[in-house]
Amino acid sequence: MSIDGSKLTIVGAGAVGTSAAHWAVSRKVAKEIVLLDVVEGIPQGKALDISQSAPLCGYHGSVIGTCNYKDTAGSDVVIVTAGLARKPGMSRDDLLAKNVEIVKQVTENIVANSPDAVIIVVTNPIDAMVYTVFKVSGFPKNRVVGMAGVLDSARYRTFLAQALGVAPKDVTALVMGIHGDNMLPLTRLASVGGVPVEELLSKEELAKIVKRTQTGGGEIVQHLKTGSAFTTPGLCAIEMAQAILFDEKRVLPCAAYLEGEFDINGVFLGVPVVLGKEGVERIVQFSLTQEERLALEKSVEAVKRQVDATGL
Ligand code: 2OP
Repeated sequence: MSIDGSKLTIVGAGAVGTSAAHWAVSRKVAKEIVLLDVVEGIPQGKALDISQSAPLCGYHGSVIGTCNYKDTAGSDVVIVTAGLARKPGMSRDDLLAKNVEIVKQVTENIVANSPDAVIIVVTNPIDAMVYTVFKVSGFPKNRVVGMAGVLDSARYRTFLAQALGVAPKDVTALVMGIHGDNMLPLTRLASVGGVPVEELLSKEELAKIVKRTQTGGGEIVQHLKTGSAFTTPGLCAIEMAQAILFDEKRVLPCAAYLEGEFDINGVFLGVPVVLGKEGVERIVQFSLTQEERLALEKSVEAVKRQVDATGL
């Protein structure tokens, strides 16, 4: 595992981008970390602040804040967080029209400066924004991936651990599908220390946890009132960036472009993938029950509606 020579750019120095930069330094995932934003002063100030944590967390690379895409040149991984965030009463879909324009411009700049990068898309609505990046960049499908399942699965694991009174890290669980209310937390596959949670929690308890997971982002928006979650979304993006930069071959749920996998074609959707230096190196397929398949189809329909709205 080495950070030598690797370069990570985070586009957007809002709450999620700043959190990602912070986690990137504390996890030492790249030798150069670049935080870019269009608002002069914000990325510079935030990068300076984050860089001053280096003596405390043992990071020996550089952290640069910039408004100039030239400083991002030659990045191995680019995380896109630029765009507006949700306010109470807004769905992720309400953001679509504004964010599609922002993400198009960002993508053109990434392609011009880092033509070999893997792009991780975090901007909401993720499943449509990742499609936008894919279409505009012309990158192969393995080099464009959306962050959603890692966050949704982390929420699911947290709620399961709380209900069980156990360490969250011992809970394994997978959330597939759209990053929205039609996401599919797979109760059948969730386990704690290898034991299926269906043997430990009642159907009613599990149904409540599934519902809370599906609306987990909105629950935070309701509390915050002026924005959405940022600490864990930033970490989830870095979990994925690290898997790529260190060629870890992690199996993580991510929004990947499907061409027949799970019998789905032509959309990005949250599925388990192998993440390594090539980006999405493989999609891990398995059999779904009839009920799961129907739920996943609802996700596909919702993503298709979003993609149609992008006009791409
Ligand atoms: C969330 O679910 C920001 O969409 C993100 O919190």
